[in-house]
Amino acid sequence: MKLLVTGSSGFIGFHLSRKLLSQSHQVFGIDNHNDYYDINLKLDRKKELIKYENFYFKKCDLINKNDLEKVFNEFQPEIVINLAAQAGVRSSSLLSNYYLDSNIIGFLNLIELSKKNNIKKLIYASSSSVYASSKQIPFSEKEENLEPISLYGKTKLANERIAELISKTEEIQFIGLRFFTVYGSHGRPDMAYYKFAEKIKKNQPLTIYNSGNMKRDMTHIEDINDGITACIDKSNFSSKHEIFNLGNSHPIGTMELLELVELHYGKKANITFENSSNEVKLTFADITKSFNALKFNPKIKINQGMREFLNWYDETF
Ligand SMILES: NC(=O)c1ccc[n+]([C@@H]2O[C@H](COP(=O)([O-])OP(=O)(O)OC[C@H]3O[C@@H](n4cnc5c(N)ncnc54)[C@H](O)[C@@H]3O)[C@@H](O)[C@H]2O)c1
Repeated sequence: MKLLVTGSSGFIGFHLSRKLLSQSHQVFGIDNHNDYYDINLKLDRKKELIKYENFYFKKCDLINKNDLEKVFNEFQPEIVINLAAQAGVRSSSLLSNYYLDSNIIGFLNLIELSKKNNIKKLIYASSSSVYASSKQIPFSEKEENLEPISLYGKTKLANERIAELISKTEEIQFIGLRFFTVYGSHGRPDMAYYKFAEKIKKNQPLTIYNSGNMKRDMTHIEDINDGITACIDKSNFSSKHEIFNLGNSHPIGTMELLELVELHYGKKANITFENSSNEVKLTFADITKSFNALKFNPKIKINQGMREFLNWYDETF
């Protein structure tokens, strides 16, 4: 199959592309290599991918419709997977234009070109952030009262609403995936588990938000990859726009996660506490729907996944 993966130099885009390439699919990756975090991490991921002869890459911004159109014309993909976005919750009040450009305008450009090029399926990254303060726990796709508290979460909910609307009139199969705190090797340095490793290893001060009184449904990248590829392979969905939770369904507390990292390095973190109003207290995925439709059944427990991540971190830095 020919698949267009946006954000292919990002954490999830890299892992997904590598898996698809090893299954002999043709992958066209695009990424704008922005400097939200260390560009070298993105370039290293790209370097890994270009070793595959079935990988094509173009540095391209989703908001540049002309460049994007050239990619569609050149590659003629069958399936589009949109993982490019301005990610991260905590900075969403600071970089608002960037959130709106990449996450909304970029998504609209991709949809318009997918329509024009008769794309069969458009899979896109949503987020557990859409649930925010939802009262129903675990978070279910059936929840109707969605009020994200971060601008980031609001852009992800807007993606879902746009896809829902367009799916009513177009032939494209839309699939929105609400990822829950994805972690693993080649991960994102702005995320807590990564910062814990970096700061403890380097004996640097570590900021813990909201007294560490938070829980996250951390989901290993391999399980996320299984969920995405199940969506690629599946041909019959019950509606033209489907939304699935991809989470581990076993939340872990911040301090418990920190302890795993402290144990690995055999030393304590040097902690300062701060408050953050953009952060929700708990994320917890109900994965009944994903299990029934996609056979999504996360296999990697947090101890095993964190050991794998920490080993990668130690070998790399
Ligand atoms: N990692 C998680 O825990 C998590 C959780 C929920 C949702 N998500 C979503 O999954 C997707 C992938 O996340 P990730 O963790 O791999 O993030 P990432 O930041 O590592 O990857 C995103 C990539 O997209 C690129 N990009 C950003 N804006 C672009 C644009 N306008 N044009 C082209 N490229 C652009 C970036 O350079 C980056 O390489 C994102 O949509 C994110 O919001 C991630």
